[in-house]
Amino acid sequence: MSARVAKLLSRMTLEEKAGQLNQLSGRMAVTGPLTGKPEHMDQIRKGLVGSFLNILTAARTRELQKVAVEESRLGIPLLFAFDTIHGYKTIFPIPLAEASSWDLAAMEKAARVAAVETSAAGVHWTFAPMVDVGRDPRWGRVMEGAGEDAFLGAAVARARVQGFQGEDLARPDTVLACAKHFAAYGAVEAGREYNTVDVSERALREFYLPPFLATIDAGVATFMASFNEIAGVPSSANRVLMRNILREQWGFDGLVVSDWGSVRELEAHGVAADLKDAARLGLWAGVDMDMESHAYRAHLPELVKTGVLSEALLDESVARVLTLKERLGLLDDPYRYSDEARESGMTMTPEHLATARDVARRSIVLLANQAQVLPLAAKPGRVLLVGPLGDSKLDMLGNWSGKGEPEQAVTLLEGLRARLGDGVRYVKGVDVEGNDESGIATAVQAARRADVVVAALGESARMSGEARSRTNIELPGRQEALLRALVAAGKPVVLVLMNGRPLTIPWAAENVPSILETWFLGTQAGHAIADVLFGDYNPSGKLTMSFPRTLGQVPVYYNQKNTGRPITEKEREWVSRFLDAPNEPLYPFGHGLSYTSFAYGDLQVSPARAGADETIKVSFTLTNTGSKSGEEVAQLYVRDVVASVSRPVKELKGFAKVALQPGQSERVELTVAHKDLALWNQEGRFVVEPGAFELMVGGSSAGIQLRGGFTVAR
Ligand code: NOJ
Repeated sequence: MSARVAKLLSRMTLEEKAGQLNQLSGRMAVTGPLTGKPEHMDQIRKGLVGSFLNILTAARTRELQKVAVEESRLGIPLLFAFDTIHGYKTIFPIPLAEASSWDLAAMEKAARVAAVETSAAGVHWTFAPMVDVGRDPRWGRVMEGAGEDAFLGAAVARARVQGFQGEDLARPDTVLACAKHFAAYGAVEAGREYNTVDVSERALREFYLPPFLATIDAGVATFMASFNEIAGVPSSANRVLMRNILREQWGFDGLVVSDWGSVRELEAHGVAADLKDAARLGLWAGVDMDMESHAYRAHLPELVKTGVLSEALLDESVARVLTLKERLGLLDDPYRYSDEARESGMTMTPEHLATARDVARRSIVLLANQAQVLPLAAKPGRVLLVGPLGDSKLDMLGNWSGKGEPEQAVTLLEGLRARLGDGVRYVKGVDVEGNDESGIATAVQAARRADVVVAALGESARMSGEARSRTNIELPGRQEALLRALVAAGKPVVLVLMNGRPLTIPWAAENVPSILETWFLGTQAGHAIADVLFGDYNPSGKLTMSFPRTLGQVPVYYNQKNTGRPITEKEREWVSRFLDAPNEPLYPFGHGLSYTSFAYGDLQVSPARAGADETIKVSFTLTNTGSKSGEEVAQLYVRDVVASVSRPVKELKGFAKVALQPGQSERVELTVAHKDLALWNQEGRFVVEPGAFELMVGGSSAGIQLRGGFTVAR
């Protein structure tokens, strides 16, 4: 810690120290059950609050900051935090959607814009990125993450941290990022929110932790402990996670905040006897700041006075809070983020909106396009838009949409009207949920008079996100009935899906020629979808989470193990399979079509025999063989053929998003770092084992076009 922080620390009472570790929620955007009093001015005056979440706007943060700085004994400024997950006012696609762009620069840019707008509202800290990898679409929080893969998840995590934090945290248009939720939250049993987790050390090290480690490489300032337990130890009491792994092994020197009330919840987990015990466990395990449990403020002073916890331990955490405030420049100018002129000038600017539109169209995945119904002709005749999501502004923003204003969101109807004027008609048909089918007949009549039908169906925004787990991930309500009736009407149908998680849509996949996955694309959704429908932007997104055929397959993911009894040509009965469904998902990880086509050729791998620490260079020729310019996400997978522990049948180890004109070829060069070949061995270490590795390249995890290999020498 700096001399300044040390000096400040030396002047603090135990109560003031505990106060710095106390984070309270304001009333402006509550995101969990409130346990404290709504008005906190008095506590600020007494130096009993270090940070707030959910206090927004330059004016309001300034007001509270003034009390802290002018009326508390030591005048330590407050730290303001907020969940800017995919935009503050200019709302970007939900993170799962953005990840489908595989476009790291776009994701970094989105986070940058979000940071500019968030910081202009007086906020210093966002609780993002969420870097939990997940394989269970029942879990509503998959919408906040990057999907099912740890390698891609790590790359996305890095890009997002860089976007939020920028080059220099001292700049007032950057915000502190927070890697959450540490750890393995994506493994909640049955995808049920806040549920139990029990994963092996290997799964933790190889799968759940790498995106977190990547955020440290990117300089992330803070971590958040998760709600879940792992094998009996809730994260907010998990000393192995927070002290051994995070601090000792990874060298993280930033701040760890609890999740909302997660210190208090140690009681409900049954590992703390009361709130005091919870406070003891939390600090001991490594939670520096207590979000809304009121446990630290109430009990840390006494726990130190009675010698249960050492003051040195308390000081370490307080120093981390003060150091962050110092890094942000708040000790010099506590009001530097609370700038009303910047707030009004920097929010929802034309430039931000243009970025949002561009990121949104990059996030769209063309799942199917059998009869080449898409792209639509510039003059497509009479277009009928049907479905409950066709003109719903609120839903376009997706869940966790910051301070996004639904009125500002562009719906698909508006996006189509911007092009076609009155040439598009809209009929809602059915609601997202519920059993009312009375609107279907009108929709069918309208469909008969149309030349093309666009059906905007899926989930409402509030059906995914925190506390939004589902046991059925089909199209909700009577939407499939509507879709069937539209298809039966005989006109070409384009299904435009909007949803925060993979859905099971086997009927649609069989019967609807063109399916566009648009997730929730944010403020510019309608324009972005129209750009893709009409081919002004050639879709380039690829799924980062498998779409199951049926929920009974879950978890279904691309990097599975072979098992001792894989399906073979010869043996189909006594093998690892289902009687009533294939093993493969409906749409695999990495899948996504384009209006053009790509060919892969001439794979070169060097060296063929790699020494220790040698990087493998992989190159191949990618050609746009179609008639439209487009972008392809070329994916590189590796399989460790024989190892001391079983390895996945393939693992993503590289990718590139390449733009090509019709007929154009490019040599794509990727590298596989030696360390990316490592496995967590039985002795509890990452090692690269010598031997053969298979190498696969293609446009999807199930669409391998080139095969090769290399050996790692002994
Ligand atoms: C609970 C969520 O789990 C977390 O992601 C969020 O940052 C906090 N609430 C604060 O809103």
